[in-house]
Parts: sequence; structure tokens; C-alpha cells
Amino acid sequence: MKHAIETQDLVKAYGATRALDGVSLQVRRGEVFGLLGPNGAGKTTFVRLLSTLIRPTGGRASVLGHDIVADAGKVRARISLTGQFASVDEELTGRENLMLLARLLGLSGREARSRYGELLDAFDIAGAANRQVSGYSGGMRRRLDIAASMITRPDLLFLDEPTTGLDPRARADVWAITRRLARSGTTILLTTQYLEEADQLAERIAVIDHGRVIAQGTAAQLKARIGSGVLRLTLHDRDDAARAGTIAAGLGLAAQMQEDPRMLTIPLPDADAALPLLAALAEQGIALVDFAYGQPTLDAVFFALTGHGAQGEAPVSGPQEPAAATEVSE
Ligand SMILES: Nc1ncnc2c1ncn2[C@@H]1O[C@H](COP(=O)(O)OP(=O)(O)O)[C@@H](O)[C@H]1O
Ligand SMILES: [Mg+2]
Repeated sequence: MKHAIETQDLVKAYGATRALDGVSLQVRRGEVFGLLGPNGAGKTTFVRLLSTLIRPTGGRASVLGHDIVADAGKVRARISLTGQFASVDEELTGRENLMLLARLLGLSGREARSRYGELLDAFDIAGAANRQVSGYSGGMRRRLDIAASMITRPDLLFLDEPTTGLDPRARADVWAITRRLARSGTTILLTTQYLEEADQLAERIAVIDHGRVIAQGTAAQLKARIGSGVLRLTLHDRDDAARAGTIAAGLGLAAQMQEDPRMLTIPLPDADAALPLLAALAEQGIALVDFAYGQPTLDAVFFALTGHGAQGEAPVSGPQEPAAATEVSE
């Protein structure tokens, strides 16, 4: 069996909402596969279907060779799930949570203690093991959560948005844990809203939007789809963003706004295309703090594929009002 996960036209409808609208994917054994998409794209629905928590409306899927409907029990015995929201008990200590789960999963007292010791070390939670979970930081809680899902050494681990809401340091910790698990041979299906996260962790990525896969490949392949490079501009004045977008549009280039309102990214056919744009911006008196030319980010890829950014930003090219229209010229 080559594939850990195989789905064909998988559909999940909730009334008129097609949370998953015909997804066909293959995840190889031993790989980290990234399912990348914005809020509401269908990521959790996909994970819930494959972990047999819900049943499909249509299509079929197998996990580690077992059909998710006909062989749901066999699927459950081989997988583990770390959900988007923590599933550990707040009232218990970290230690009590892990021991309780281990016993519930059928480990003997001795096995449970030995596994518990390994997990404490692997996930760096020994220091807080005897404290109540309600007092844990977000990152700590997430580590305990993933540790809990590793008690039985699953062949396949679902990590549903494991770092959403975490600070950068806790995120780095979860990334390190994910890499360690992957090296130990566990197949991982990771869902994320963060393009950088998929880029960092996943060997292959499927981009999902409105319940459909809109692109698939390695990060490099996805990046290659939108041209050879991207120009990143940091404007001196955030109010110049719309005007800079219009100037780019005049040269046939599509500028895209970033979370930071002073930043623009502009996919270019080649590096030479940067020069006329930079000249035109200078001519129009738009001052830059910084510019850089490099490989496109996955955010730019998402924009190219869907016409909107991963967080739903709108393009700024074209005839639009300036971002901040409050300033009055004298
Ligand atoms: N139990 C449910 N009942 C009705 N609609 C749902 C249910 N679960 C998910 N949805 C809808 O399906 C879509 C996909 O949701 P979800 O899989 O949670 O997305 P994601 O995890 O990518 O944010 C959303 O529009 C969501 O509102
Ligand atoms: Mg979700």
C-alpha cells in the first residue's frame, strides 16, 4: 500500500452548504502533507471525515488501506487526531491527562508510565507535568495536546491547525515537534492557514478553497505557477499604496496588498520588469523604505490561483480609492 490516504470525489454537505465539494487527494506513506486554505475552506471537515468522526455525503476514501465508512473501526485503531481546539482536561494536570488517556487506550500501568516518561521528554513538558492544565500557556497546552495524540504511536497523525493562535516561539516549538514526528516515520496530514507553515513543514501541499482543491504540488511547484519572481515593496507612506497599485497596473502588473498596509507584493515575469516600475514610482514621488526581489511566497500563489489572498485581501491594482481617505490636502 503506497498511500496513507486516498480520497475520490469526497463530498460533505450540510444542507445547501457543501463543506467539501468533491476532493480527490492522495497522501503518500511517511510524508507530511499540507492542506492549506483560509477559514471555512473545508479543512476540518476533511480531517473529520478521514478520522471517521463524520460520514461523507458522497465519494469515497481510504485511510491506511481501510475504507472510512465500511472499515471505520480499523481506521480509528491506526490514526490519531489533534483537533483545532484543545481536547485535554483543564482540571487535571498534564501528567494526569496523559496517564488517564494511556489507560483509556488500553496500556497497562507500567506501559503507561514508560510512555508517559518518553512523551514528557519529547514534548518538553516535564517542568509543568504536575501543574493543572488550566494554568498552561497556549503553546504548552498545544504540546500536551499533540503528546496526548501520540500515546499509541499512530501510523497517521492529523494535525488540524496546530499553531493557530500561538505566539511565534510556541509555533516554532510545534514545528520542531512535527518535524521530529515526521522523521520517526509517522505520516502527517497537517492543515493550516499559514502559507509559511505549509512551506516549512509539508513535502506536498494541496490548496483548498470553498471545499475544492484548487492546486496541488510541492511548494516549489506551486510557486513556479505564478512566474519567476516577486517584487516586495515597503512604502514610506501607507497612503501611497493604492496609487502604487495603479501605477503597477499601468505597466500591466498586479500589485497585491499585505497585512502591513505599507507593503505591496508584485509578481513579475522576470527581474528586468522591476526597473520600469521602480522608475515610475520614483517619478510619481512615491518613496520606498525598502524593496526586494525574490521567489514568490505561497501567499502570492494563493492570490494568483484565487484572485484573493489567503486572508481575503483584495488586489489594489485598478481604479480604487486610496486606502486612507481621511487625509485632507491643503
Ligand atoms: N456541522 C456543520 N454544520 C453546518 N455547516 C458546517 C458544519 N461544519 C462545517 N460547516 C461549514 O462547512 C464549511 C467548511 O468548514 P470547515 O471544514 O470547518 O472549514 P475550515 O476548517 O477550513 O475552517 C464552512 O462553511 C462551515 O461553516
Ligand atoms: Mg478548521
